[in-house]
Amino acid sequence: MKKRNNTWSFDKWAGRYDKIITEDKDTFARYDEVLDRVVEVCKLSKGKRILDIGTGTGNLAFRCLNKGGADVIGIDPSEPMLAKARKKVKRKSRIEFQQVDDPFLVNPYSDNYFDAVVNTYAFHHVPHRLKPRCVKEMIRVLKPSGVWALGDLVFENKEKEKQALKKYDWLDEDEYFERIDELDKVFKTLGMKLQVEQFTPVVWVLWAKKP
Ligand SMILES: C[S@@+](CC[C@H](N)C(=O)[O-])C[C@H]1O[C@@H](n2cnc3c(N)ncnc32)[C@H](O)[C@@H]1O
Repeated sequence: MKKRNNTWSFDKWAGRYDKIITEDKDTFARYDEVLDRVVEVCKLSKGKRILDIGTGTGNLAFRCLNKGGADVIGIDPSEPMLAKARKKVKRKSRIEFQQVDDPFLVNPYSDNYFDAVVNTYAFHHVPHRLKPRCVKEMIRVLKPSGVWALGDLVFENKEKEKQALKKYDWLDEDEYFERIDELDKVFKTLGMKLQVEQFTPVVWVLWAKKP
């Protein structure tokens, strides 16, 4: 995602974001189920440590805390989105939100630190040429046997994406939807098997366990 006029372009969405996800029936169809599935595949439990990248207003992060009982850190480039997330935090809960520029590309945590690294509806803002590097960075901070999981707009390959997108008029210049065949190759180089589950014509949940 580009920084425009010194501000992240999601900044202007922050006030309306939690309403948009209930109204936009294309992009956010089955939103709650997608987030629940991401939490489920991570097999979270009390005391596990989770990183949610592109956390926005924190919806996935709070699910990891409330349904998974995990300790959660949510990171995002947009301060206004994070401000919305922080407003939802109850006193003494084991969740925190931090601003990080380009958090898929470089995150500030040590190797093998998290039990799960998750993201929903955010990785498609990263250009295709940077995705392999970002996957490696996410897996770097994941413990052995930890789970990486994503819920997002995804296509099986470039051709399927081209066909599918003819039906939609919401393609933005900053959107680079994941392609399963390309991600699969990256995960293979890390010795990981990518698992996939389709939720809508455009939304999938993908996950993989670190060896
Ligand atoms: C559509 S929202 C998704 C928020 C949340 N994960 C959810 O599922 O509702 C996309 C979020 O990704 C963040 N974002 C945009 N570009 C990003 C990038 N390059 N790296 C990480 N996060 C980014 C935005 O600031 C925004 O909060």
